[in-house]
Amino acid sequence: MTSCHQVRIRVPATSANLGPGFDAFGLALTLYDELIVTPGGSGVRVEVSGEGEGEVALDESHLVVRSIRAGLEALGASVPGFTLRCENRIPHGRGLGSSSAAIVGGLAAAYGLADEPVDRERIVVLANEIEGHPDNVAAATLGGFTIAWTEGETGRAVRLDPAGGLAAVAYVPDNRVLTTEARGLLPSVVPHSDAAANAGKAALFVAALTGRPELLLTATEDRLHQEYREPAMPESLSLVHKLRGSGLAAVISGAGPTVAVLGRPDGTSPDAPDGWTRYELGIDPVGVQVWSLESG
Ligand SMILES: Nc1ncnc2c1ncn2[C@@H]1O[C@H](COP(=O)(O)OP(=O)(O)OP(=O)(O)O)[C@@H](O)[C@H]1O
Ligand SMILES: [Mg+2]
Repeated sequence: MTSCHQVRIRVPATSANLGPGFDAFGLALTLYDELIVTPGGSGVRVEVSGEGEGEVALDESHLVVRSIRAGLEALGASVPGFTLRCENRIPHGRGLGSSSAAIVGGLAAAYGLADEPVDRERIVVLANEIEGHPDNVAAATLGGFTIAWTEGETGRAVRLDPAGGLAAVAYVPDNRVLTTEARGLLPSVVPHSDAAANAGKAALFVAALTGRPELLLTATEDRLHQEYREPAMPESLSLVHKLRGSGLAAVISGAGPTVAVLGRPDGTSPDAPDGWTRYELGIDPVGVQVWSLESG
């Protein structure tokens, strides 16, 4: 079967961990990558504008292409060739889930190309297999606030609605920290008291984010990952400390080095430091979206 539909995808940035919810929590944000996939021919042609332009590979190894191929294979569909156009706004290697957006976007495109209704649970499973952890892919797929876990190797997630009016400010430095590097700084053993503190704060965070945002400052305290990553991102940790010291619920976003502040916007979060970019973002409620367009 070869599709004649052009497919358009919009997929959100995501912030994972959110303080105490290491590898579990994810929040979808209103910053989007867009993809247009036009089937035809026998190979791939990739065009990239925006983030990653001139950097990412433009062949079969491109993460979106690999994810489209994986999705088509899982669906038993055949689309030998296509043109992929990427309009990227999610910065790469900064902790805002660009790799998850690429994977989830590619898998969703496969559903569109195969003319199959999007199965979000299955996308979380397939995306987790490619990404290696389910937190960002869950939020990019389902939108809102997600709690992800794995059963054996299988990625699973539940989605909750954040409290009304919640928003995030992301402070994005211009240097990158690869997820693999940030993970390498984590110890294999942590004190029991730190694990217990994080368990309590993670539970509190669910209540805070979904209905008691005034508790977000205390609910975003973490002892399992943020401080250990300081050598890779000292300026980010110092910004987290400064913002938290002024009462704002600041966390390292994903594997960093972006710093995210969660809460109701009230104009108190300061300007970005020199060399950083500040994004005022809402919470994306729906996750990845797919539109099929007749391309003739
Ligand atoms: N839209 C994209 N198209 C192609 N490749 C991408 C795309 N987005 C990310 N990648 C690949 O993923 C790498 C970044 O992945 P990484 O997991 O380190 O950072 P991140 O996903 O931006 O942040 P985090 O996982 O901490 O939220 C890029 O260097 C690139 O190789
Ligand atoms: Mg990533």
